[in-house]
Amino acid sequence: MRLPRLSLFDQLIAAADHALRTLASDPRPSRVSPADAMPAPDPGTALSLRERREAAALMRVNHVGEVCAQALYDAQALAARSPQLREAFGKAALEEADHLAWTQQRINELGGHTSLLNPLWYSGAFAVGLAAARLGDRASLGFMAETERQVERHLQSHLERLPAADTASRAIVEQMRHDEAQHAEAAIQRGGATLPFPARLAMRLAARVMTKTAHYI
Ligand SMILES: [Fe+2]
Ligand SMILES: [Fe+2]
Repeated sequence: MRLPRLSLFDQLIAAADHALRTLASDPRPSRVSPADAMPAPDPGTALSLRERREAAALMRVNHVGEVCAQALYDAQALAARSPQLREAFGKAALEEADHLAWTQQRINELGGHTSLLNPLWYSGAFAVGLAAARLGDRASLGFMAETERQVERHLQSHLERLPAADTASRAIVEQMRHDEAQHAEAAIQRGGATLPFPARLAMRLAARVMTKTAHYI
């Protein structure tokens, strides 16, 4: 079913509603968390306090990434020129909502907290998503593909840093990495353009600032 084009006022209301649901509600996943499918850990392999803190910090970084994904794809959906692409970005935001819910649940289990700067991350990512969409649908898809590729590499680095005994967090990150690779591939298949090197570099630098900050705040 094709979604009707919303008026500017309706778009603003929809964007505000989506932001509030991302930042202030308990997200409901459409898929069971991969952590819940893992066997109960052996009591002899319980995480130390230091390991729990480190895992919670890494999962907080990943949660921020998913907050940004919600903002990016919502903005790109709102500003997409073709109705098909609007639907595709809306669907992507729904799939990313699973990642948002899984990381939030895991942070809670580890006794950690989500980033205090989430409203700031969301606002910044929303502005970037709007800017990408204004460049046209092919550039917007190219931006999506590059974002997903960078997230995939980042998640791979987290698999190397997460405590070996934290099988629950590792299962979540592994599934997310798999999903992000598919999202990148889908964006390319839909005609995403390759972004110029300076744009890719700027995205990497912005992501580095975000991940370093979210590790602590
Ligand atoms: Fe994701
Ligand atoms: Fe993704």
